[in-house]
Amino acid sequence: KILILDFGSQFTQLIARRVREAHVYCEVHPCDVSDDWVRAYAADGHLKGIILSGSHASVYEVDDRAPDAVFTLGVPVLGICYGMQTMAQQLGGKVEGSATREFGYAEVRAHGHTALLKGIADFTTPEGHGMLKVWMSHGDKVTALPPGFKVMASTPSCPIAGMADEARRFYGVQFHPEVTHTVQGRAILERFVLEICGAQPDWIMQNHIEEAVQNIRAQVGDEEVILGLSGGVDSSVAAALIHRAIGEQLTCVFVDHGLLRLHEGDMVMEMFAGKLHAKVVRVDASELFLRELAGVSDPEQKRKIIGRLFVDVFKAEAEKLKAARPGSKGAQWLAQGTIYPDVIESGGAKSKKAVTIKSHHNVGGLPEQLGLKLLEPLRDLFKDEVRELGVALGLPHDMVYRHPFPGPGLGVRILGEVKKEYAELLRRADAIFIEELRSTIEPHSGKSWYDLTSQAFAVFLPVKSVGVMGDARTYDWVVALRAVQTSDFMTADWAELPYALLKKVSSRIINEVRGINRVTYDVSSKPPATIEWE
Ligand code: XMP
Repeated sequence: KILILDFGSQFTQLIARRVREAHVYCEVHPCDVSDDWVRAYAADGHLKGIILSGSHASVYEVDDRAPDAVFTLGVPVLGICYGMQTMAQQLGGKVEGSATREFGYAEVRAHGHTALLKGIADFTTPEGHGMLKVWMSHGDKVTALPPGFKVMASTPSCPIAGMADEARRFYGVQFHPEVTHTVQGRAILERFVLEICGAQPDWIMQNHIEEAVQNIRAQVGDEEVILGLSGGVDSSVAAALIHRAIGEQLTCVFVDHGLLRLHEGDMVMEMFAGKLHAKVVRVDASELFLRELAGVSDPEQKRKIIGRLFVDVFKAEAEKLKAARPGSKGAQWLAQGTIYPDVIESGGAKSKKAVTIKSHHNVGGLPEQLGLKLLEPLRDLFKDEVRELGVALGLPHDMVYRHPFPGPGLGVRILGEVKKEYAELLRRADAIFIEELRSTIEPHSGKSWYDLTSQAFAVFLPVKSVGVMGDARTYDWVVALRAVQTSDFMTADWAELPYALLKKVSSRIINEVRGINRVTYDVSSKPPATIEWE
């Protein structure tokens, strides 16, 4: 395995994903772990190399340094950006603030024949220098090499853009190989983990399933597990995996709050109860949710109400299951679809400084309240890996590659007060939009517009406008269509859907959904707008 020490860069998770894509297992831990921790981490002999991430800060603003043990274990170390600078400083070199900030695209000359960069280049200059097209983002730079190091890469404004001590297998790069703008970044990281560290590319989903199944069985023994199934990717994959491991010992609870997409509840039941033969309790709580939401129009208040009711309903169901039935001890475990980014963000890693996380509707705090032990079989996986796992476990591709859907569901897509009538109109309009996105193929990529967008949905506007249908005047509701493209949901662009597609969606919605006579398309990017309307 590879250890990534996080100094708080927004790109740290990307480093981990690139390493995993090379089929090498890696973990991200905060940079301020102790020397003893690092030595204990390496004690089983599986640690093959260490990567030091970048930081959002400069070496002069923060005193974060790598634990000294990093440099005495005898494993290869790669420092990226701040990681290179702290390596230089800790090993006897010098780092200085720079008058010019390099930010964005740069061309870097790769020197000599270091094991890390040898033979890797985007182009060669007339003088025969190998050049790399890279992404840079830094103010400080290394100005004196530590003893034993030589220059590995340079730019006119940053003479030491890369350094190497090949005897100790320590490497530093000032640019960011983990971002896709660095064209050879993937090749460089692969070279580091596979060739220089000699890590085995054995992180493969099928092996992981076997291992995860064994772990779940060992953890749970003959006890019982309950899981809140939402229909989302994470809880669905967790359910399928746990079901594979312990079958009948798992009971899924599916709370239908009445604010789901069209036929969503039936699809979840058909998949899990029907195809997988898992035990699923479906709780239809839509009346309760609608009753409590009546008269409430403030978005945050709606979120609170939905979150609270969700927990109440789930808890009541869990209590029932926990109560011993004849011949059973009752459930002892609560399973959750927590994934690795959730763990990194909440686990004290430095990156928590940089991002505020949304409060999701998952059942935080419930295990203690219910006196249950927590089972989280996806804790080590990134979203792409969770999807890959879902497919390997036999879940349908369409389910596993679905757009994200907010916990409060249509509750935040019906502006203002939520009413049953509005929810029904919105569900049907939304389904038409999604159906057309799925069936319209963009010719250059050969992909559907559903796959080309990150999130797409309809929003119900409680506004009436005048229309004409046949000879009659109508006075009906408006829906807005929203489709965005984004990689991290922190920023997003509205999708440039083809007019022909919008035209078809609009005419189908107006013709097929009686009660809606006007469709608009949202052309706001985030920021300053958000993806959801509430
Ligand atoms: P915004 O609207 O903040 O959305 O740009 C960013 C992403 O978060 C999702 N979202 C939510 N997810 N509970 C959730 O589980 C919520 O209350 C919530 N609000 C927004 C949104 O769908 C998008 O993917």
